[in-house]
Amino acid sequence: MYFIGLDIGTSATKLLLMDEDGEVLNIRSRSYPISFPEPGWSEQDPILWWDAVRQGIPELLRGFDASQVAGIGACGQMHGLVVLDKDDEVIRPAILWNDSRTRYQVDYLNREVGRRTIASYTGNVAYAGFTAPKLLWMREEEPVNFSRIRKVMLPKDYVNFRLTGVHATDFSDASGTLLLDVRNRCWSRQMLSICGLRERQLPQLHQSWEPLGTLLPGVARELGLPEETLVCAGAGDNASAAVGTGAVGPGRCNIVMGTAGTILMTTDGCVVDEHNALHSFCSADGGWNLMGCILTAAGCNKWWMDDILGADSYDAEQALVAGGKLGQNDVYFLPYLMGERTPHNDPRARGAFVGLRMDTTRADMTQAVLEGVAFALRDCLQIARAEEVEVMASTICGGGATSPLWRAICADVLGIPLQIPQTPQAPAFGAAMLASVCCGAFPDVAECAHRLARVEEQMVFPNKEIIALYRGHYSTWHSMYPALKDIYRQML
Ligand code: XUL
Repeated sequence: MYFIGLDIGTSATKLLLMDEDGEVLNIRSRSYPISFPEPGWSEQDPILWWDAVRQGIPELLRGFDASQVAGIGACGQMHGLVVLDKDDEVIRPAILWNDSRTRYQVDYLNREVGRRTIASYTGNVAYAGFTAPKLLWMREEEPVNFSRIRKVMLPKDYVNFRLTGVHATDFSDASGTLLLDVRNRCWSRQMLSICGLRERQLPQLHQSWEPLGTLLPGVARELGLPEETLVCAGAGDNASAAVGTGAVGPGRCNIVMGTAGTILMTTDGCVVDEHNALHSFCSADGGWNLMGCILTAAGCNKWWMDDILGADSYDAEQALVAGGKLGQNDVYFLPYLMGERTPHNDPRARGAFVGLRMDTTRADMTQAVLEGVAFALRDCLQIARAEEVEVMASTICGGGATSPLWRAICADVLGIPLQIPQTPQAPAFGAAMLASVCCGAFPDVAECAHRLARVEEQMVFPNKEIIALYRGHYSTWHSMYPALKDIYRQML
């Protein structure tokens, strides 16, 4: 039996073909643009995702026996608002996770309705990228579009809808809408009423591995797949990456170093931190997690390397960073190039280099960029630790995690050993694993992860002396955002 995993990403859709032993047989990627129609806005046409899947699946299957495909699982960028009308046509381009137009709606939810109240309904407070503030924005700014909404969906749910004709979502992705009561795994009546929606406008809720149905006959024909191919509910990309890296069951951690950076810590039951500084979300295995999300992680390195340095090779630039200087850099970088989600919840925050002198080198600044992102992850880890969520080790995946230097910096700054998954494309791999559970190849997600998620033997161990050096540097870095916060306000 074969399983297909889809990752509906922000810059590309990744497609992965896996057999029931977890062997990855093929990987394909189809990229598409994002549009930024106004400063702070970030949109994408859902048709781009569907075209990537329609064209990508036949390409993925070329040279393989398509009749062996038993199931498809999709995961994708979280929080994106997709709205369909009564004919299931897309009403307007999707508003993505990194869009920050909802500043006033977030203030309304967190200040006027109140953080405590919102958290009591959902387990979370409002963040600019979440879906509910976008619905409020649409109600105020595009009332005609808002009145046409028959279904609210998330990016991977739109793809599942095109595959099966079913309007559905899963708990992990629904957690990021701010419409889900995460503790009780049901839509929050109070949040629906605040947003002016009825429950029938939301998709059905499922566990990630549950089947939504089989392929629509026309779609099966077009993709060259058996009509009885099952499609499971799937997951948000970070929850799916946790499955793909084996971070399943309480006490596990996975870090994704993508454009955004996330640190997902699985918890024993639903844990909500005291100040709602982290996201409290459902996991894809039936459990829960606390998750930190920093809006620009590998995105900072890309900006520094491509836009500022115009570097020919990331490796060559990073080779200039002398190993002996880890923990001793006196240049600091705040990675808030797109504002910050956790823990500051501040769309007005901006990036900064602090500590430049005449003898500062390009290598010092490269190092500072990598360290700044690691410090921001540590901010999130500290909050989880204060809630007594123990994190003893973590897996690390995503584009940024391919840099040995960045991995070493992360291990030293976080003070934990890091493991590298053997399989690339952890989110798409996790989605294929969810499909395999859906098709009965494994009794549950835990067993599937135990059997299929493999890590490299070599771990990245933190260096005790460098940990101690970074402790002091982190404390200096940590005091910089509060010092700059008021200045950021004057800049807009
Ligand atoms: C998570 C988040 C991002 C997107 C990126 O809360 O916003 O990780 O899911 O794909």
